[in-house]
Formats: sequence, structure tokens, C-alpha cells
Amino acid sequence: MTGPTLRRRDDGALELRVNGVFVMDDVETSSEQALARTVLDLGAREILVGGLGLGYTLRALLASPQVTRIIVAELHPQIVGWMRDGTIPGADLLTDERTQVVVGDVRDVVAAQSPASLDAIALDVDNGPDFLVHEDNAGVYEGDFVELCASRLRPGGHVCVWSMAPSRSLTTSLGAALTDVREEAIAVRLQDRDERYWIVSGTRPDDVSAAD
Ligand SMILES: C[S@@+](CC[C@H](N)C(=O)[O-])C[C@H]1O[C@@H](n2cnc3c(N)ncnc32)[C@H](O)[C@@H]1O
Repeated sequence: MTGPTLRRRDDGALELRVNGVFVMDDVETSSEQALARTVLDLGAREILVGGLGLGYTLRALLASPQVTRIIVAELHPQIVGWMRDGTIPGADLLTDERTQVVVGDVRDVVAAQSPASLDAIALDVDNGPDFLVHEDNAGVYEGDFVELCASRLRPGGHVCVWSMAPSRSLTTSLGAALTDVREEAIAVRLQDRDERYWIVSGTRPDDVSAAD
């Protein structure tokens, strides 16, 4: 795996790539912000976010006074460093007293949380199970990890996942450990075309066991 790269394109946009593959830019960020809005509308106050990226989900969450604590898991230390030094706008997000950034794999960061300690887990580490940038992220969308997430949520807490496309395997994984699984389409404008990205969510039932 090669590391992340950041560049300012000729059109002025800031672009993030990992392994040479486009991850995101700062032109169309409505779905990243919609991920935050979904979590906020569900009433979450203590939230774990998987994937810092360019910080749009984090910024939208911190804009709400409802939010009391956010743990951000980011695999690449360079991305955190670029935000700290202003190369990626958002140093203020990292100094917000509600934010704790942990450099590491989101699976390890979730595992390190206390059982039943979070209101929501918002996952945007890859493009969804069918369009992976890192093959290694396949497990983030599978049942064992969803079950681990469920154990770290309070009863009634939520897992919300950004996905490039609707995915039967993702709704099946969520449905094995969560109830009320739903897919919400988010309209986005990509260059000259209209597209839809997806937020797939589920709710922790009362009787989930607390996995180690
Ligand atoms: C699409 S970006 C996140 C975008 C973010 N929601 C925003 O608003 O800018 C995905 C991020 O997840 C990170 N990432 C990828 N795999 C990861 C993993 N397994 N654990 C933690 N972070 C990961 C990438 O380095 C990248 O910063």
C-alpha cells in the first residue's frame, strides 16, 4: 500500500488519493455532510467517526451543540498531520475539546471503546463493500464488525455507513446485528452528471450481547 497524497488541482479543488486511487475532493461534499446530519437527526451525542478524510463529516457534527464527544479513527497519520498544520483546512476541528483523534484502523478503535458507551458509529472509510479502495477494508462491511459496533452502542444507538451504491451484502450485514435497517439516497452532482450516494443505517436492539 502506498500512502495518501494530497494535491491542489488545476481547477483549484483539493484532492485526496490513497494508493493512487481518488478518494474525495472538496467540490461535492454533500453526502459526507449528510452522514453527519443522519447521525444528528437520530439524536446522537457521543459518536465515533471512521475516516477523517477532508473533515466534512466531522465539521458538520461539531457544528451541533448536541454533540458532546467525537472519537475519530483515521488510518493514515499523514492526513491527521495535514489537518493539524493547515494543509487540509480544519485545524480547529482537531483542537475542539469534544474531538479525540486516534490514528489507527477503525476496527481497532471501535474494539477499544467500552461496551454500550456510544450513541452512534458513522463509517466512511471506503466506498462501500463493492468499490473498495483498500481491499483490506472488506471486513468493515461484514457481520463480525457490525456486531462489534453494536456491542459498543447503547441500546437504541445507531451504525450509519456511507456507501457509493446500494448493497445487498451491506444491508444483510447490518441486519444480522441491528434492527430498522434503511438505505437513504443522497443526491450529488459529480462534474456534469447527477448521481446518488447512499447512507445505510441500523439501530442496536436492547438485547445485543457485549462482545469483547
Ligand atoms: C472518504 S474519506 C472520509 C471522508 C470524510 N467523511 C469527510 O467528510 O471528509 C475516507 C477516510 O478513511 C480513512 N481510512 C481508510 N481506511 C480506514 C480504516 N480501516 N480505518 C480508519 N480510517 C480509514 C482514509 O485514510 C480517509 O481519510
